[in-house]
Amino acid sequence: MQSSKRILSVVIALALSFVALAGRSTVNAQDTKLSGKLEIMSWWVGDEAPALKALTDLFAKQYPDIKLTNSGVAGGSGIAAQAVLKTRMLGGTPPDTFQVHAGQELIGSWVAADRMEPLDDLFKGEGWDKKFPQGLIDLLSSKGHIWSVPVNIHRANVLWYIPANLKKWGVDVPKTWDEFFKTADALKAKGVTAIAIGPSWTQVHLFETVLLSTLGPDDYVGLWQGKVKFTDDRVKAAFTTYGKILDYANKDMDSLGDWVPAAQLLVDGKAAFQVMGDWEAGWFKAVKKMEPTTGFGWSAAPGTDGSFDMLSDSFGLPKGAPDRDNTIAWLKLLGSVAGQDAFNPLKGSIPARIDADVTNTKLYNAYSQSAAVEWAKDKIVPSLWHGAAAPDSFKNDFVTVLQVFAAQRDADAAVAASQGLADLSGIGK
Ligand code: GAL
Repeated sequence: MQSSKRILSVVIALALSFVALAGRSTVNAQDTKLSGKLEIMSWWVGDEAPALKALTDLFAKQYPDIKLTNSGVAGGSGIAAQAVLKTRMLGGTPPDTFQVHAGQELIGSWVAADRMEPLDDLFKGEGWDKKFPQGLIDLLSSKGHIWSVPVNIHRANVLWYIPANLKKWGVDVPKTWDEFFKTADALKAKGVTAIAIGPSWTQVHLFETVLLSTLGPDDYVGLWQGKVKFTDDRVKAAFTTYGKILDYANKDMDSLGDWVPAAQLLVDGKAAFQVMGDWEAGWFKAVKKMEPTTGFGWSAAPGTDGSFDMLSDSFGLPKGAPDRDNTIAWLKLLGSVAGQDAFNPLKGSIPARIDADVTNTKLYNAYSQSAAVEWAKDKIVPSLWHGAAAPDSFKNDFVTVLQVFAAQRDADAAVAASQGLADLSGIGK
């Protein structure tokens, strides 16, 4: 009985793999004939465009008969692109595919609204269930299905600086916020702004790293699971520290266009440090032509050494995508080693695939190498602002909590409001 069952399962497995192989070769045969159009939507335009361009160039080489358009909407972290996407999705005219962060940003929105196609067959067909880290696949999954294809892994908790400037000002890289405040006083005495901050989303980005530093990785994760409350004293301490950081920052943060003008303050020698994700490494290198280590430097954001605050950019397949076959071809390229190796060296991120070779120094520079080392050994925690940790309803309203805090500096009111928001958006439910 037992052995006939085993034979049956072997036969089924063989049959399935045959079907998969047959399916793949048909798809491949069709791939070469693909033509028509493909509309992708992302926020990688302007200074953020070089990595995407490498990918679209590769796509154009593989599919010369497909006309690809990038409906790019400028605005770091997708702040404007997501609003445009919303009107397209709600209006029943989705783009073929769109950039979206792995995690709650997609799962809690368009997956919950039943507007996405599951990608399980694509993952199986391409063997991707074994090519991406299980934790990432979990983040991309809900209701037993996988919903988007990840192109990279970014780290959010990075402190950037220009080594030559620090040398000129005679200061070292602070490892903790307490050290930062001492350094900031020394810089202030020299008339230098200690930290460059951009508009509201970059403020939440900074705050989440401060939160990580006061809670530590385990309780930071616990916060998003509802196990730790926002009324915890350490969350209150994070608000207080954040308020103090603001006192050492550029006063025009709210009117800066994006994260790039804040990064430019470092390059211009007007500010010393910036907490930003590692797309900044891509920008230093691909746009500013500065070299890692000598031209620009980095370290874990104060108090977060040993933690990797992660996020991942991915693309999905909306139901009703007008050019479905072409979209699948795009998704296949994104998920391939060739696609990830074209994109990531210019983006500052590391490949999401476990079999891409980040140690290849011809492709990946010193920053990417160091990020890959941290990714392998650090505690991985999900980014709040970049869609991995909490539903959009929380993070979008949290912007207001932080802005009100910046104006009033009332940490008790801020933690109470944050907990109220967490309850409303179902965190921990
Ligand atoms: C992140 C995104 C990055 C980068 C950044 C700044 O949300 O994942 O790839 O583009 O925003 O816009």
